[in-house]
Amino acid sequence: MSVLITGIGELTTNTEAAGDALVIDGEQIAWVGNAQNAPAADERVDVEGRAVLPGWVDSHTHLVFAGDRTAEFGARMAGKPYTAGGIAVTVNATRQATDAELAEVVRKHVAEALKQGTTFIETKTGYGLNVPDEVRSARIAAEHADEITFLGAHLVPPGEDADTYVDLVRGEMLDAVAPLVRWADVFCEKGAFDYDQSKAVLEAAQAKGLGLRVHGNQLGEGPGVRLAVELGAASVDHCTYLSQEDIDALASSQTVATLLPACDLSTRQSLPPARALLDAGATVALASNCNPGSSYTSSMAFCVTTAVLQMRMTVEEAVWAATAGGAQSLKRDDVGVIRPGARADLHVLDAPSITHLAYRPGVPLTHSVWRRGERSL
Ligand code: NIG
Repeated sequence: MSVLITGIGELTTNTEAAGDALVIDGEQIAWVGNAQNAPAADERVDVEGRAVLPGWVDSHTHLVFAGDRTAEFGARMAGKPYTAGGIAVTVNATRQATDAELAEVVRKHVAEALKQGTTFIETKTGYGLNVPDEVRSARIAAEHADEITFLGAHLVPPGEDADTYVDLVRGEMLDAVAPLVRWADVFCEKGAFDYDQSKAVLEAAQAKGLGLRVHGNQLGEGPGVRLAVELGAASVDHCTYLSQEDIDALASSQTVATLLPACDLSTRQSLPPARALLDAGATVALASNCNPGSSYTSSMAFCVTTAVLQMRMTVEEAVWAATAGGAQSLKRDDVGVIRPGARADLHVLDAPSITHLAYRPGVPLTHSVWRRGERSL
């Protein structure tokens, strides 16, 4: 089944492909160009001057959870600081939930994101923190999300010895979860895991063939970025507090700096130094960090709007970061772009240009979405 989409007012492809029309064939983009040269297709859809861009690639979420942290959020808005310790509340609730309950939470949030234009999503374990709950988190995540990350090193479970727990994570837990995931991650931060503990986990994961990601520099300057760059991690996420050395290290590395502005707003941190990163030559991605504690939103548009209005990114930089940037952080070249052969993941805005994402903040602009060639809105 092929579909010819015409009447595109502005086409953002993140590649050299250009035009005002495109053809989807099955799950892939088959052709991009000007309508007068379009090949025949089974169906035709006229988007009447609307902007078309790749579906959002949300490269950082934590969707396998149970429970609610509204009270913690309320206390934070009244002045209480965010700490890593809140993770334990979600761990307790997650351990008590059934598989069906956890699967429904993941399904519901992936569907919520899709309605807003997110067509590719990464999610993590990290609220199980024992072998059986980390394994089932990975298994359930894989039923609904596109890329799965092992985050056994999210927090030392309260009452457990840190070094003993690190040995469990890089030993038995990693052995059990590795076949189900492509990535491993650590929360390298005060109150979670220090440089040596994080390095031990990441090196064990690398030896098992997993790609590396790091949660770093979220709550203050620290060793997370340095560690990510040293180990050649695909991405270091948060990057809220960076020294000049961190920025220089990122700029001269292949490690993507994934910024999570909704999280910084929701935890009342500063916003990350996006302009300094971009000006230094670092690769920047934007993601939602959807989770019940620090960032309970699935809205990539909100992240893009914030990046433009408050982090001094241009609209083009922010849209690239939320599509091709996320894909790069996951080492994918088939999503986040529109070109023949790429996955047919499209986001049609009810607006003539991507500039409206920042020009009309807060307005739901998703008109229609195709994921893997299937129209969902
Ligand atoms: O990315 N930083 C660590 N993990 C999550 C927060 C998880 C939570 O508070 O439940 C994050 O912000």
